[in-house]
Amino acid sequence: MAMNPDATDFAADLSMLAWQLELGADEAIAEEPLNRYKLEAPPKPRPQSAQAPAAAAVAAQPAPAPAEPVVDSAAIAAACADLDSLRETISAFDGCALKQGARNTVFCDGNPAARVMVIGEAPGREEDRTGKPFVGRAGQLLDKMFAAIGLSRQGEGAGDSIYITNVMPWRPPQNRTPSTDEMAMMKPFLLRHIALAAPDYLVLMGNPATKTLLETEVGITRMRGQWGQVLGVPALPMFHPAYLLRTPAQKRAAWADLLSLKAKLEES
Ligand code: URA
Repeated sequence: MAMNPDATDFAADLSMLAWQLELGADEAIAEEPLNRYKLEAPPKPRPQSAQAPAAAAVAAQPAPAPAEPVVDSAAIAAACADLDSLRETISAFDGCALKQGARNTVFCDGNPAARVMVIGEAPGREEDRTGKPFVGRAGQLLDKMFAAIGLSRQGEGAGDSIYITNVMPWRPPQNRTPSTDEMAMMKPFLLRHIALAAPDYLVLMGNPATKTLLETEVGITRMRGQWGQVLGVPALPMFHPAYLLRTPAQKRAAWADLLSLKAKLEES
């Protein structure tokens, strides 16, 4: 019996899709974000006969690329006088391509008056959907970790609460690590965020936060537990809760770091 080629393709596509679902794919998302605002309509073909050969040769030369706009994120961040204006400014900022692929700008959660400010990496799917940091599985573990030393994002006093943000306010495609350039572009906003929140202590969750803020190439395995300083604020690198979910044996180290934070809070 002759097969309908369309039906064959359909069956092949369907089994390919089933295989991808089996592998855990749950979302159609491209490797790089697509800025749909900047898509240009394809140029209309011009009739050849209407052009003299020399003019056609000139027309075939590619137009010089427009100069890349220089975005001074440091000056933009410095102009924000309070957390509300920083939130609005970041939401309106178009200098980082990750924004184009994100549903929400994820700015913060918790108590801005908290003595402890926690800095993660970037929103994942749940954070992108809700607009709040650390609400997925890693966030649930983060809540448990801080609850163990008497701190929570719901706390109303400076001494029993945490304030949470991320290095990157937009979800990277497929949850990849933000690139060095992307983090460098957003770093002035993060530093301004820290200056405006003025916490007594910072907790840097994982490699990207530690690398960006402590300006080190040393990995989190060696950095964790070693207090540093960011804008004069004592800063403690810790294993990221998502890593702890994958590597429960390291929860012991995380507990030691939480106790180190607790001791600092109690001594001052
Ligand atoms: N991981 C992070 O680093 N931040 C989030 O907000 C969620 C997961």
